[in-house]
Amino acid sequence: MTHKETLADIANVLLDPATSPALLRDTIETYRDLLLTASGIDLGEAGGVDHLDTGRGVAIGVTWAALCVDDLIRTQRFVAGLYQAVTEVAARRAGPVHVLYAGTGPFATLALPLMTRFTPAQLQFSCIEINARSKQAAERVVKSLDFDAFVADFIKADAATYAIDTARPVDIVLSETMQYCLIDEMQVPITLNLMGQLPPQTILIPEQIRLSLVVLDADSDRIVRDLGAILSVDKHSLLAHRGVATDADFPTVRLSVPVHVPLLSPTPVSGPLAIRTGVTVYGEHVLNDYDSGLTIPRIIGDYPDSSDPLEAIDFTYKLLPAPLLWMEFILPEPVASN
Ligand SMILES: C[S@@+](CC[C@H](N)C(=O)[O-])C[C@H]1O[C@@H](n2cnc3c(N)ncnc32)[C@H](O)[C@@H]1O
Repeated sequence: MTHKETLADIANVLLDPATSPALLRDTIETYRDLLLTASGIDLGEAGGVDHLDTGRGVAIGVTWAALCVDDLIRTQRFVAGLYQAVTEVAARRAGPVHVLYAGTGPFATLALPLMTRFTPAQLQFSCIEINARSKQAAERVVKSLDFDAFVADFIKADAATYAIDTARPVDIVLSETMQYCLIDEMQVPITLNLMGQLPPQTILIPEQIRLSLVVLDADSDRIVRDLGAILSVDKHSLLAHRGVATDADFPTVRLSVPVHVPLLSPTPVSGPLAIRTGVTVYGEHVLNDYDSGLTIPRIIGDYPDSSDPLEAIDFTYKLLPAPLLWMEFILPEPVASN
């Protein structure tokens, strides 16, 4: 079997909603082996684990970016979501669908499976990557699979400041440059910059990322209660934010943490407080809690009680000096004694 035939089989598995977890695991293993061979990447290579500090957030090192393929459900849902978006645009109009892929990593992992399903006359990618080693490896993968005709451009640039300069209008912006809670990495600055330069009908993938405050069950870590939304990153919120100022903090959101009164509540809520990250890749293709490293709730503290009281938390998503969810814990006013 040629690499191309293997990749076509991999695409079939990733795009089949009936794929079992065991088949997905085996298929991603095959995909990783193919990508390592085609790219020549050595996961233990010197400097591979070093992150690149852009001054406005970090871009992960080539080894970590390569290993993203192993986040099984993430990889499957992003490929399936992108496929759906491309299919929808292609059904609307003639000519190639143009995807601007920001942060390809060393493999262009999310793009390659689609190259077995479309022709270059139907689908074109412009690829941006800040890490020279990752860009070089991704170019090698594309070449070795004979997919050069799908890639209009390979650009080494910081996608958070890049001025779009592609000959063809962009239909879809694709970027997975995040970790849970949207901290450190550059998903928000990148999508703010790129979507701000494109018309409102441009599709953004992931379509929406949501942060919210939740309570976990103390024993199982299951989410038992959602205390409210902190931030939504979608094309409308990005556009609204750009209207304010690109680098400004997002508006502060105050969420109260209800005091548990054991006598009044039959089912006490008392597990740890955590930040939930929800991801809608595109349409029905979503990442649920714990599906991926991106959607693991992050514990921020114990549930308050009388010995450790808390009234509310103020959340501010900051872009500078690096993406960060800033939290300020609001304590109850002390009761005056007479
Ligand atoms: C999480 S990896 C994802 C790799 C691959 N797209 C995937 O989904 O498996 C993110 C990639 O984006 C690149 N990246 C991060 N910030 C960037 C930026 N500001 N401009 C361009 N590329 C960036 C990193 O170098 C890394 O290769």
